Amino acid sequence: EMDNQVMPREQLGVCAEGNLHSIYLMFNANESVETDLRPCIANVAQYIYELTDQYADSAFNGFLAVGANYWDSLYPSARPAQLKPFPAMNAGNRDAPALEYDLFVHIRCDRFDILHLVANEICQMFEGLVELVDEERGFRFMDNRDLTGFVDGTENPKGRSRQEVALIGDEDAAFKSGSYIHVQKFAHNLSKWNRLPQKKQEDIMGRTKQDNIEYESADKPLTSHIKRVNLKDSDGKSMEILRQSMPYGSVKEQGLMFISNCRNSDNFEKMLESMVHGDGNGNHDHLLHFTQALTGSSFFAPSLDFMESKAG
Ligand code: HEM
Repeated sequence: EMDNQVMPREQLGVCAEGNLHSIYLMFNANESVETDLRPCIANVAQYIYELTDQYADSAFNGFLAVGANYWDSLYPSARPAQLKPFPAMNAGNRDAPALEYDLFVHIRCDRFDILHLVANEICQMFEGLVELVDEERGFRFMDNRDLTGFVDGTENPKGRSRQEVALIGDEDAAFKSGSYIHVQKFAHNLSKWNRLPQKKQEDIMGRTKQDNIEYESADKPLTSHIKRVNLKDSDGKSMEILRQSMPYGSVKEQGLMFISNCRNSDNFEKMLESMVHGDGNGNHDHLLHFTQALTGSSFFAPSLDFMESKAG
């Protein structure tokens, strides 16, 4: 039985449905600002929460997340049980480097002008406390496709199972309604990808391109992306994450801003391992021959109530 009185409020962007536009702001904190930053963070998260109602017509949503390496400076008294630095890994030419940031603000909306205004406002609220070190803008491409031309997000959890997959429950009561966030900025080599015949592209994804039909299990190459990331735990239960990725970039550099939201940090790490290192029989994810992870960052998006409780 769920008691709404004691249910901490989640940040609404963690589980929100997809949008047309996004802005990603990566910040590092200035020295010794934590006393001022704690209330400021609570204000920014509350501001994003209120705009979700104000701009409901254009489906505004967002969340703020705190970097794994910064967490103990900001909130020294309590740490989410599974919060750890990004699991950097490498095998052959397949590189998943770590590049951590102190704070991540993720805002999305179906109106780009609103996002632009809100991003400016948030940076103003943070003034003097943090430095903006990276910014990207994401967009919906065609009918929810990645820039490779394949529909992305089809097998994401739907409806209430988005919350079940992405939000911490009673297993870590102090951090209930929070979420582990992993971000990788992938830069695609599209000229290389576009030289591949369509059937080869489909074999790499494990789905057809135009109609987005999943391959029959027996036809899925062990090196296909969906074969490598479709994992089961020791009880035979599907290991799931909620992906909030979007295409980003400009002609010079473009790809997928990959974002995983999950109630544990293990599912993402196991999937990435399976992509980079493969299955132990030399079968790694061939998608990685066509895209390069430029960053890898680990964050935690606490509940609004957690941030508020630490603001004073
Ligand atoms: C599925 C693209 C990176 C996890 C998919 C699908 C596409 C795709 C097209 C099939 C449609 C769907 O179900 O969404 C990409 C691209 C990536 C990327 C272009 C980077 C360049 C990753 C990473 C992970 C991941 C880094 C996790 C570590 C998944 C999962 C699924 C999926 C769990 C659903 C598999 C299933 O149950 O069928 N991805 N992906 N992806 N991807 Fe990725």
